[in-house]
Amino acid sequence: MQRQPKQINDVFGKDDLKRLVPVAGFRKKKKELSPEDYLALETAEDHKADYVYFRHNTDRPSSIRFAQAYVYDRTQGTLGPLFAGKDSGDGLKKIEVVVKLFKLQEVRARCFKILRGMPTNPYYHGIEQHVGHTPLIRLRRLSELTGCEILGKAEFMNPGGSVKDRAALSIIAAAETSGQLKPGGTIIEGSAGNTGIGLTLIGHSKGYRSVIVIPETQSQEKISLLRTLSDEVITVPEKPYNHSGNYNRVAQRLSEEKGWFWANQFDNQANRLAHYRTTGPEIWEQTRGEVSAFVSSVGSGGTLAGTTLFLKERSSKIAAVCADPYGAAMWSWFTNGNTETKGGDSFAEGIGQTRVTKNLEGISVDRAYRIPDQAALTVIYQLMREEGLFLGLSSGINLAGAVRFAKESGPGQTIVTVLCDSGIKYQSKLFNLSWLKEHNLDPHRPIESILD
Ligand SMILES: Cc1ncc(COP(=O)(O)O)c(C=O)c1O
Repeated sequence: MQRQPKQINDVFGKDDLKRLVPVAGFRKKKKELSPEDYLALETAEDHKADYVYFRHNTDRPSSIRFAQAYVYDRTQGTLGPLFAGKDSGDGLKKIEVVVKLFKLQEVRARCFKILRGMPTNPYYHGIEQHVGHTPLIRLRRLSELTGCEILGKAEFMNPGGSVKDRAALSIIAAAETSGQLKPGGTIIEGSAGNTGIGLTLIGHSKGYRSVIVIPETQSQEKISLLRTLSDEVITVPEKPYNHSGNYNRVAQRLSEEKGWFWANQFDNQANRLAHYRTTGPEIWEQTRGEVSAFVSSVGSGGTLAGTTLFLKERSSKIAAVCADPYGAAMWSWFTNGNTETKGGDSFAEGIGQTRVTKNLEGISVDRAYRIPDQAALTVIYQLMREEGLFLGLSSGINLAGAVRFAKESGPGQTIVTVLCDSGIKYQSKLFNLSWLKEHNLDPHRPIESILD
C-alpha cells in the first residue's frame, strides 16, 4: 500500500524551511549535469516538482553519493519519496535526517549547488573517478643497464598513494552492488596500511566509516596516517595467518560481531578484478600492445593475478613474472608447487605472502624470482638520487625482478612493473641511516651491483 506523503510543515520547522532552495536550475541543459544532478532532475521531472531535498545516510557530511532525494510537490505541499512505491515505511525518519544535515556546512554547500542548478561540469569528478590511469614511467638507468625498456606504473600517484586504491574502489563497488555494504555502513579491513588508506579515503568519499586492523610491525608513518584518516585503528601483534590473533582474523571477527562489511582483500576477487579491468588495459594501451613482460610482487596477489589475466588474454606471449621477497612463499609456490618459506626474511611491507589466496587461484607465472632486500634498496636509492622518484621497498623488489627478467631474456624487451607506493611511508626505516646500519643494509651500493 502506498504511504500517504507527509505535509511539509509536519516535517520541517520554520528555520529549516528558510534553508530550502528552489530547483530553478533544472532548466539547465542535460549535458551540464553531474550524475547527482541527473538523479535529482529525473526525480523532479517525474514528480513535476519544484523542490528536491537530499537525505544523507550518515553523520559524515563528506559525500552525497548515497544521498536519497525527496521531492516536494509545490502544488500539493507534500513530500514524496525518491522512488515512488518504494517507500519502505520509514520515510519520516529519513526526512528528519535531511533537516539535520542541512545544518552542516559542507552538505549544505553541495546541496545548494545542485538545488540552485549552478552549472556543474560533467568532466570533473570526485576522487573515485581518479583512481588508476597512472603514468607509465621509463626508468632511465635500469633501461640503459639492460637494453630493455623498463617501465613502472606510477601507482603512488593514486589518491591514497598506492596501488591498493584500485582494489579498494573495486571491493567497495562490488559490495555496494551485492548489497553487503549499505549506505552509511562501516568497512573493516585487516591491512598492512595501503589497502586501509584506500578503503578509508574512497569509503569516506562515499559516506562510509572505516575501521582498520593493522599489525604493529608496520611503519609508524602508515599507522599514524591511518590514525589521522580512519574512524578507528586497531593495532595488533604480528601473528601467522592461522593464529586467531592474526590481523585478518581480528577484522573478520569484528565484522561478524558488529555487522560491518569486511573487505577481505586477500580472498575477495573484486580485488583482482580491479586490475583485470584497469591496470591490465592501461598497460596494454600505454605500451601500444608492445609489452613483453609484466612483473609483480605479491601481497594479496590482486595486482599480479588481475593484470596477468588481462594481458595473457591479449597475447599469451606476454610473460607473467613474480618477484618475491625472501621469507615469502610465492617463489616456492610458482616454482615448486609448495608454500615453503625458509631461507631469509624481508623488510618490504605490503608483500610477502605465505599462502595461496583466492586472488591467486588458477594463476601461474612464466618466471618467479626471489629478490634480496639489498637489491631492492639499491634500486630505490638510485631512483631517489638520480631520477626524482621516491619509492617504497616493494617497488624496488618489482624493479629488481624486472632487471632479472631483462638479464635472462636479453635486450629489446618492454618490461612493465609497478611502483606501488611512496618512500614517504617508510622514511623512519628505509631512509634512516642508523636503521639501515642496524639491519645491515647499505644505501651506497652502485646500481650495477644488482646485475650480479
Ligand atoms: C606497498 C605495497 N606493495 C605491493 C602490494 C601488493 O599488492 P597486491 O595486494 O595487489 O598483491 C601491497 C599490498 O598491500 C603494498 O601495500
